Amino acid sequence: MPGSGGHFIVAIDGPAGSGKSTVSKLIAEKLGLVYIDTGSMYRALTLKAMRLKIDLEDGEALTELARSTKIDLLKVSSSLKVLLDGEDVSGLIRTPELTNNVKFIARVSGVRQEMVNLQRVIGGRSSAVLEGRDIGTVVFPEAMFKFYLDADVEERSRRRYKELSAVDQRASLNDIKHDVVNRDESDIKRDVGALKRASDAVFVDTTDLSIEEVVERLLSYIK
Ligand code: DC
Repeated sequence: MPGSGGHFIVAIDGPAGSGKSTVSKLIAEKLGLVYIDTGSMYRALTLKAMRLKIDLEDGEALTELARSTKIDLLKVSSSLKVLLDGEDVSGLIRTPELTNNVKFIARVSGVRQEMVNLQRVIGGRSSAVLEGRDIGTVVFPEAMFKFYLDADVEERSRRRYKELSAVDQRASLNDIKHDVVNRDESDIKRDVGALKRASDAVFVDTTDLSIEEVVERLLSYIK
């Protein structure tokens, strides 16, 4: 692992279900780094927009909202709490309805600018693992370590299905696949901060790998 006291960033990007959240968390734990789930920040802002019934097509209103909102990530024992204006919203930001609405928030360039600034501030404080869609391309293009995780869409849908079944949300595998495909499309086609592999990111296809295998693979580059 890079020594000499300098800060370094591990950037992990990829689509929904590629395994990046679990893997990023484990890598941060193993290396004693701060873990930053950037998707949770877009989710928290989406929750606020929905609560305030802001028109999700109104980019200016959403940008204004982003500027006047305080989002924090707080590590409490082994989990990451998402604070929206001081309120712990961790349990409220993963509903299917909200997940489907994040795309309206994530495509607004003014919103992304605010989020990227915040991510740079948090990531600038100490060595960190950041996971998202645009970390290696936009947020920290100079990151010391960059990874892009992907898996085939069937496998990503199955993983999502398992995750959701565990918390008792009864969508069919087909519905979930439909959502995954739609989310890929809005992530990839966005004009700003689109999901894209940085040319210097290490690509890992996680389809046939266990979480442990992916973690080991990534650690072999970092150590
Ligand atoms: O990682 P996640 O599924 O929790 O992310 C939720 C949404 O947030 C995702 O559909 C796209 C958006 N997002 C983004 O636009 N940029 C990021 N860096 C992270 C997430």
